[in-house]
Amino acid sequence: MNMEDKIRWGILGPGKIAKKFVSDLLLVDDAKVSAVASRSLERAEDFAKEYNVEHAFGSYEELIGSGTVDVVYVATPHNYHKDLSLLALTSGVGVLCEKPLGVNRKQVEEMVDASKKNNAFLMEALWSRFNPAIQRVKQLVDEGEIGDLKFINADFAFYALDRDKDSRLLNPSLASGTLLDIGIYPIFLSYLLLGMPNEIMAISKFHENGTELQTSIIFDYPNAQAMLYSGFTSRSRLEAEISGTTGQFLLKSRWHEADGYSLIRENDVEEISMPLTGIGYYHEILEVHKCLKSNKVESDVWSHQNSLDLSELMDKVRKKSGITFPFET
Ligand SMILES: NC(=O)c1ccc[n+]([C@@H]2O[C@H](COP(=O)([O-])OP(=O)(O)OC[C@H]3O[C@@H](n4cnc5c(N)ncnc54)[C@H](OP(=O)(O)O)[C@@H]3O)[C@@H](O)[C@H]2O)c1
Repeated sequence: MNMEDKIRWGILGPGKIAKKFVSDLLLVDDAKVSAVASRSLERAEDFAKEYNVEHAFGSYEELIGSGTVDVVYVATPHNYHKDLSLLALTSGVGVLCEKPLGVNRKQVEEMVDASKKNNAFLMEALWSRFNPAIQRVKQLVDEGEIGDLKFINADFAFYALDRDKDSRLLNPSLASGTLLDIGIYPIFLSYLLLGMPNEIMAISKFHENGTELQTSIIFDYPNAQAMLYSGFTSRSRLEAEISGTTGQFLLKSRWHEADGYSLIRENDVEEISMPLTGIGYYHEILEVHKCLKSNKVESDVWSHQNSLDLSELMDKVRKKSGITFPFET
């Protein structure tokens, strides 16, 4: 890719997150929102008009084959991530795919293989990995700023029982439930700071249609523990506590998009502000651009292996707590 060129983005699935993402894409100098695709041409055209996008397509496949984009942003429900990413990768189009990359590790393996085989960029849109405050906290934890890390407590829950039963949050055929949608964030934080646990405990509660609605998780490490929670039945604090032998970091609500952190010691609290650019997606977009411009197939910051590990952790939690999807059986 020529360093002078703008990177041409295509949006697959003009839903809620796609709108937010594009508002940040428009802040990136060398990005161009070139195309948008929906299952309905009308919806694609509406989106194209709103965001001044040159090409609108009435199917995802048409966009991918159109030659109008360098990279697609996959923003559909989870269960379509794999097939759409594979289609793009085998067509030589790069992929930034919303989290979770696949609904299980097997899917993620297929996606990673396709990326390597076709020499096409693939990254999971784990935007919190690129959040400046979270990056700084990771660096400080690694440098021993709070002594030995012993405990992480992170949650992510909101009330969603009033959502439409066909919505992706509550419809099992769209891989509904809290774990893949929001439980992924607390799991990510524990993995980022402590790595793979030795042992996992997990228990879930379910909707009558089989959707998993609450999941409590313990990750046990050789010298530390993490208590993680996700839910659709009530709002939670949405904070993350990262506790070491000589101090504690606190990421305030909503911690996965933090704009600063607190460093708490015995008689001292330090408040650090680290404002986001845009609404927080900007930072992952810069990483995608950096990788594309150096012809890389993966990011070093959130790598293929990181996505494989994250999906493995979610598979293990699912096995312990009995979370299944109808399309997997
Ligand atoms: N990073 C973040 O902060 C964040 C936040 C929210 C969600 N997400 C992720 O983004 C993805 C999409 O979430 P969202 O909240 O934007 O969902 P959404 O508003 O429901 O939009 C999903 C889009 O996918 C398309 N789609 C394709 N097949 C579909 C089907 N069978 N049912 C419904 N929609 C279908 C729809 O577009 P057309 O029908 O027009 O093609 C729809 O607009 C999820 O994987 C989620 O985990 C990430």
